[in-house]
Amino acid sequence: MIKEPTEISFSPNSQQIREIEIWLLNEHKNNGNRFHGNWNHIERCFREKRILVGRIHGKTIAFLTFLIQDGVCSIGILNVKSEFKNIGVGKKMVEMLEREMILKKCIAIMLFCQPEDSEQFWRKLNYIKAPKRPFDEPELTYYKSLVKNIIMTTKHQDTANKVEIWFTEKTNNLDVPPNLCFNIEQSGDILAYVHYDWMIKLTIDGIDVATSKIKYFQNELDKYIIAPFIFISEEDLNRIITEYRN
Ligand SMILES: CC(C)(COP(=O)(O)OP(=O)(O)OC[C@H]1O[C@@H](n2cnc3c(N)ncnc32)[C@H](O)[C@@H]1OP(=O)(O)O)[C@@H](O)C(=O)NCCC(=O)NCCS
Repeated sequence: MIKEPTEISFSPNSQQIREIEIWLLNEHKNNGNRFHGNWNHIERCFREKRILVGRIHGKTIAFLTFLIQDGVCSIGILNVKSEFKNIGVGKKMVEMLEREMILKKCIAIMLFCQPEDSEQFWRKLNYIKAPKRPFDEPELTYYKSLVKNIIMTTKHQDTANKVEIWFTEKTNNLDVPPNLCFNIEQSGDILAYVHYDWMIKLTIDGIDVATSKIKYFQNELDKYIIAPFIFISEEDLNRIITEYRN
């Protein structure tokens, strides 16, 4: 799809950052574009090596800022210069970030969709809309798993071995189908965007062996919650299943 040769770099120089500043300042003057208001954030990301830039014919035409915390990468801003939109630059930059974050052993990438009309772009790149959690700001959060996830369904599954999650903190409200279900007869990790007060149920060989709030799952709050995600590696899952079977 890319018609122009795009060069993407995790280590821009100060001249390239200056080009971004001029571009954003001009856009702000010409059409009130608000990205220049984030200048302090952009400079800080440059100092801390948390910025990716895209260049075409030697000119800086795109940037992406990010932060890694506890193995979760958050995208701050992704912006492509107007005349270079829709030629694949944004996609290429996000894919490069994903590859780099996998190397850094991150479990997921997340972002707040601002402006909202970029939602379709994230969906095209297989980002999933996160469920609304209590007390969250009404922003649109999207995320993508970077681990080898067991396929997550939103339907009840008729399998004897599964992990189910309900987006409720009410323990007596589990007669309805779960919001998420993982068939743990498949191999892979479990990763989902959750609130730690929501309910989780582990069924092994058809028996409900654990129903609790996510924060009490296996009594190991710190191990499985990497906020805002629950992450149970395949290795941990197999260990838990073996312990119950013995
Ligand atoms: C959103 C943005 C980053 C997309 O970058 P881009 O380089 O124009 O996007 P790409 O050309 O890589 O597009 C990848 C795919 O998404 C689609 N797409 C891109 N922007 C879209 C939009 N606003 N609505 C619907 N689809 C969109 C493209 O058609 C393409 O689809 P295809 O693979 O089927 O051909 C860019 O438009 C931008 O900078 N917008 C302003 C700032 C912004 O919204 N940032 C997002 C912050 S959350």
